[in-house]
Amino acid sequence: NLKPVQVKLVLLGEAAVGKSSLVLRFVNNEFQENKEPTIGAAFLTQKCRLEDKVIKFEIWDTAGQERFHSLAPMYYRNAQAAVVVYDVTKAASLDKAKSWVKELQRQANPNIVIALAGNKIDLVQPIEESEDESTESGRQVPTEEAKAYANEFGLLFFETSAKKGDGVRDVFTEIAKKIPLE
Ligand code: GTP
Ligand code: MG
Repeated sequence: NLKPVQVKLVLLGEAAVGKSSLVLRFVNNEFQENKEPTIGAAFLTQKCRLEDKVIKFEIWDTAGQERFHSLAPMYYRNAQAAVVVYDVTKAASLDKAKSWVKELQRQANPNIVIALAGNKIDLVQPIEESEDESTESGRQVPTEEAKAYANEFGLLFFETSAKKGDGVRDVFTEIAKKIPLE
């Protein structure tokens, strides 16, 4: 089955969590320190080769600024996959991610594959001399908390760094694996 299976994927999440940066890392293997906010949405494509199929992602990278919220349904309608992004150093961004998941589960395709991605893990520093070994500076969203939420709502879960590249390919590869062959 060498003919690529086209998969429409949408990225959603609060402004500045790193949606465009994740796409730029996945598509071009690049990172920009001062990426400009997305206006409306951006469209990019990238293939993902698995053992038994080739997926061609048609990616809609939406704008997180509140004034663009009403455009989102145009992009998630008919989407087969969604990546909902938050910033692990900003607790409020997980609340926003949860509200996107709720909207998707009410309004999008009922079979949509949703991944939750906690981005910017490069900003989390382990504090080695701390008595509590689980304490990390910079982090506002504990991994276990987000993972438990993702499990409860049937989402794939990842922590990523668009800056360093950690976890970025996994997001798209695991989504590709969950897309049924037609
Ligand atoms: P909107 O388009 O406004 O919704 O924002 P966005 O979610 O697309 O965020 P964008 O990718 O533009 O990134 C916002 C800022 O965060 C930029 O300055 C990026 O360089 C930075 N950034 C993105 N990802 C990471 C990351 O993994 N680590 C760090 N340290 N910075 C990041
Ligand atoms: Mg953007």
